[in-house]
Amino acid sequence: MSKRVAIIGAGPSGLAQLRAFQSAKQKGAEIPEVVCFEKQSNWGGLWNYTWRTGLDEYGEPVHGSMYRYLWSNGPKEGLEFADYSFEEHFGRPIASYPPRSVLFDYIEGRVKKAGVRDMIRFNSPVRHVNYDESAGLFNVTVQDHQKDQEYTEQFDHVIVANGHFSTPNVPHFEGFDSFNGRVLHAHDFRDAMEFKDKDILIIGTSYSAEDIGSQCWKYGAKTITVSHRTGPMGYDWPDNWQEVPLLTKVENNTATFKDGTTKDVDAIILCTGYLHHFPFMEESLKLKTDNRLYPVDLYNGVVWQHNPNLFYLGMQDQWYTFNMFDAQAWYARDIIMGRLDVPSQKEMRADIDKWREQEDSIPDDYASIKYQGDYTLHLMAMTDYPEFNVEASNEAFYQWKKHKKKNIMTFRDNGYKSALTGTMAPNHHTPWKNALDDSLESYLKT
Ligand SMILES: Cc1cc2nc3c(=O)[nH]c(=O)nc-3n(C[C@H](O)[C@H](O)[C@H](O)COP(=O)(O)OP(=O)(O)OC[C@H]3O[C@@H](n4cnc5c(N)ncnc54)[C@H](O)[C@@H]3O)c2cc1C
Ligand SMILES: NC(=O)c1ccc[n+]([C@@H]2O[C@H](COP(=O)([O-])OP(=O)(O)OC[C@H]3O[C@@H](n4cnc5c(N)ncnc54)[C@H](OP(=O)(O)O)[C@@H]3O)[C@@H](O)[C@H]2O)c1
Repeated sequence: MSKRVAIIGAGPSGLAQLRAFQSAKQKGAEIPEVVCFEKQSNWGGLWNYTWRTGLDEYGEPVHGSMYRYLWSNGPKEGLEFADYSFEEHFGRPIASYPPRSVLFDYIEGRVKKAGVRDMIRFNSPVRHVNYDESAGLFNVTVQDHQKDQEYTEQFDHVIVANGHFSTPNVPHFEGFDSFNGRVLHAHDFRDAMEFKDKDILIIGTSYSAEDIGSQCWKYGAKTITVSHRTGPMGYDWPDNWQEVPLLTKVENNTATFKDGTTKDVDAIILCTGYLHHFPFMEESLKLKTDNRLYPVDLYNGVVWQHNPNLFYLGMQDQWYTFNMFDAQAWYARDIIMGRLDVPSQKEMRADIDKWREQEDSIPDDYASIKYQGDYTLHLMAMTDYPEFNVEASNEAFYQWKKHKKKNIMTFRDNGYKSALTGTMAPNHHTPWKNALDDSLESYLKT
């Protein structure tokens, strides 16, 4: 096989793609030449923590949006790799909400075992991708930061796996330019200790708002005020936490909200989400979507409808993560290796529309979880990715939602059953709110 495949990004999605090809090779198949380009000096994507914000050592925008003390916000039983259980990696069952360093270790364990690191070119941001119709090939232009050289190579297939939680969506509010404190986006938040004894204002009501607020509460912020555009999160928050309508303006340190109420604050954290951002893709190949479960133009959520030699992984809004990326990667691999076909453009479009219509009629979060579980199952059924019990993973997510509703500051103290091994996770040795040391060593202590 003389085909060449380029993967952009070595986060969980790109690594899933490398593992998919390596797994086929392990089973005796001849695989194409695969080159993964990674902008950072190590793999793991967002799970590869960096203290840096703004620009990196090469002047590239920092990819990392993760912060110190981040623990998984969903149960690990919802993301477990079907070919590599937590028990296999850690040698015993572990609790259900691992901190970042523990999940990084798990992600790394699988790809170390697979031996795919030499397929990755690190410090190599992709600058430009275009399609040469006459040759039927993609030109991929890459910056090699170590050699300080730009070069272009040709590929039969491109798989875009650069994530979509890195380029911040940053709205402006009146008075920001003269605010007497710090205004930052969640993308640049690193250490909750910075906000100890401070009054903080958070804009947004999704996972970043909930989790960054909770971190700041855990590490001693004086008060947390969360401002919503659509509606409040509605959890039973601690006493020093309030939910208020949307911010209208800031004067000196005083924030005013839509209902006329005010609050003096020291810092404002914009937890206002991220943009799908592909500055390196030529216009005709560029995915343009908001953050939803079934982005437009992607057949089976993966294949670029307008040129099925191009694939995007992990571009969905995410309940499911690692195992869904795997299902996508195995599917993309099998199309590239000629094991699966794609239908005509018209049929692809009709299928995309059908999934999107179904998404539009999802009544609540429970149905939304089931929808993404069904989607993952649909992909898995087409390949040899080991099928796992999706219903059991859905169940872990349902329980997680209930535990959050019951107590937003203790939900991480619960455990769930693995969809792979059936093992019930033990409780962590220390309640989350008292566990200030988030190191791997501390988490794995029994
Ligand atoms: C703060 C935060 C917390 C999260 N917590 C959880 C959680 O608890 N559980 C969970 O399951 N999910 C969580 N997620 C979701 C997260 O999106 C996935 O877990 C996962 O990291 C997505 O993997 P990915 O490979 O698609 O993208 P990423 O992890 O973003 O990796 C993309 C990779 O592409 C590289 N790259 C980018 N541009 C280029 C380029 N031009 N050229 C070459 N390489 C490039 C990047 O350097 C990076 O390594 C969280 C997300 C955020 C922002
Ligand atoms: N511990 C963890 O594991 C952890 C922590 C943080 C984040 N994450 C992950 O990170 C990903 C991104 O989450 P996210 O919360 O950053 O983004 P998100 O889910 O896209 O939510 C964006 C939020 O910003 C609000 N918003 C957007 N524009 C606004 C504006 N102009 N004014 C006011 N509000 C505005 C939205 O409000 P509306 O509802 O009004 O649209 C929404 O509440 C998720 O996958 C999440 O799981 C995980």
